[in-house]
Amino acid sequence: MPAAMQANYKLFASKCSKCHTIARPINTMMKRDEWERYVKRMMHKPNSGISDNQGKQIFEFLIFDQTERKDKNPKTFFPALSDEEKARLTAQGNRLAQKLDRRRREYQEDLNAAQGEILSSLETKMRGVVQRYAQENNYATILDSSAQNSPVLYASKNIDVTQDLVRLYDQAHPAKAPAPATTTPPGAKPQ
Ligand code: HEC
Repeated sequence: MPAAMQANYKLFASKCSKCHTIARPINTMMKRDEWERYVKRMMHKPNSGISDNQGKQIFEFLIFDQTERKDKNPKTFFPALSDEEKARLTAQGNRLAQKLDRRRREYQEDLNAAQGEILSSLETKMRGVVQRYAQENNYATILDSSAQNSPVLYASKNIDVTQDLVRLYDQAHPAKAPAPATTTPPGAKPQ
């Protein structure tokens, strides 16, 4: 270790062992920006006794130690997994992926079912409105020119009854007003 770095190490060993052993930073792998953040965090702890300048020197040692020792011996810090452990983790990962897949499918099915229910109830109600409208106004047929594959090639705007039907539908099936927000009654004591 270069002499300047030895001085940084000594500072590190004395300052960073005040509240925990130096094993803590010695055994921790971090990237440069994480070390920077960490040294600042430690400096800002009450009574850390580390000045800005000392913090910089300690940071330099930590980066030296990270790049020269830890990064060169990653196995020491991330012990190799045994084959058994690997197989177990892989199986667990697969199970979770399957579960997620199933949930996603179920959710999509429920969503489709709910949409289907809404549409068919809408259709039933609309059919009733159209029937009544046709009878009251003596229409022989009412065509849905918006439908896919509609046989209607041209229809004058003057005979378009869409707006009437929408209005009648809204009258027959008014949207429910949202429930009033519950408010604390006046004079209620806070709990
Ligand atoms: C004033 C007390 C104090 C000093 C001085 C101190 N630390 Fe800490 N350190 C803590 C405490 C408390 C924790 C655990 C809680 C936390 O992470 O904030 C901790 C946790 C850590 C961790 C653990 C991170 C993890 O994920 O396990 C590291 C690394 C660390 N300190 C490095 C240092 C370094 C490097 C120095 C010297 C610059 C230092 N500490 C000086 C109080 C201190």
